[in-house]
Amino acid sequence: MSTTNQLYTTFHNGIKMPLLGLGVYDMHNAEAEKAVEDALEIGYRLIDTASLYRNEKEIGNAIRKSAVPREEIFVTTKLGNGDQGFESTLKAFDTSMKLLDIDYIDCYLVHWPIRGKRKESWLALEKLYTEKRVRSIGVANYLIPFLEELDSYATEVPVLNQVEFSPYLYIKDLMEYCQQRNIQLQSYTPLVRGKKFSDPRILAIAARHVKSPAQIILRWNMEHGVSAIPKSSNKNRLQENFDIFDFSLTAAELKEMDSWNENYRVVDNPMDYY
Ligand SMILES: NC(=O)c1ccc[n+]([C@@H]2O[C@H](COP(=O)([O-])OP(=O)(O)OC[C@H]3O[C@@H](n4cnc5c(N)ncnc54)[C@H](OP(=O)(O)O)[C@@H]3O)[C@@H](O)[C@H]2O)c1
Repeated sequence: MSTTNQLYTTFHNGIKMPLLGLGVYDMHNAEAEKAVEDALEIGYRLIDTASLYRNEKEIGNAIRKSAVPREEIFVTTKLGNGDQGFESTLKAFDTSMKLLDIDYIDCYLVHWPIRGKRKESWLALEKLYTEKRVRSIGVANYLIPFLEELDSYATEVPVLNQVEFSPYLYIKDLMEYCQQRNIQLQSYTPLVRGKKFSDPRILAIAARHVKSPAQIILRWNMEHGVSAIPKSSNKNRLQENFDIFDFSLTAAELKEMDSWNENYRVVDNPMDYY
């Protein structure tokens, strides 16, 4: 078991989270449980699930069974879109708690900015947080207009904003906006689901470092202080995605990768839901 050199961030409320984690979307039953067991053994200490993924029970099983102490593991889950609203959010949180069965959740996120429900859902998360039922609260898919709107009714600043983000979707203005407000940015679908692994530009950088395209993209996130939650249910690829703490990109490579933005998305654009 190794946690070698992995990087952490500290939220504005003092809670610490590893920058690199495992995303468990599209993993089911035994596959989800096994992936979390393998990831914890490799050294991952951040697990990102959601009620939408229908695997909270298996994620909880793997965490409870693990030899890694609970307090070393950071667990995020998310409020489902159909559960948004004040009372329904509180109820959905209880359901996630019951399924996970791990005493506490480190971070609870609004999964998607649903029109007409954003304020009530966030106020419910604030209630959970002020009653100390969750250690931190945040959002996902909140581009700048959603964060500005949230500012108008929120008492608590989200600790984290999880969005689709990669060199091919380099939303620099959002990254800087979040940095200024002490909101940790987290990249989902960081590997672009493999769709850019044959880009000759990334292959050239990978060859120079004797690393894979996946490792180069994940390292690019780390260099920007952006958290990333790649998904894999294959133990070798889990290990590969974790082996990014023994090298750095040069300033020139970072600058080059920063220029690859082509607004490339694999998930819907949240602005279509504004
Ligand atoms: N908040 C949101 O709205 C939202 C939306 C989407 C995703 N997410 C979160 O982000 C996580 C990651 O996103 P994602 O699952 O959509 O996509 P991703 O992490 O970009 O890509 C996952 C895909 O890449 C493969 N893969 C993983 N490591 C690899 C490697 N080293 N080399 C080659 N292929 C590799 C995986 O296959 P194998 O499993 O076979 O390795 C899988 O098919 C999700 O699991 C979820 O937790 C959040």
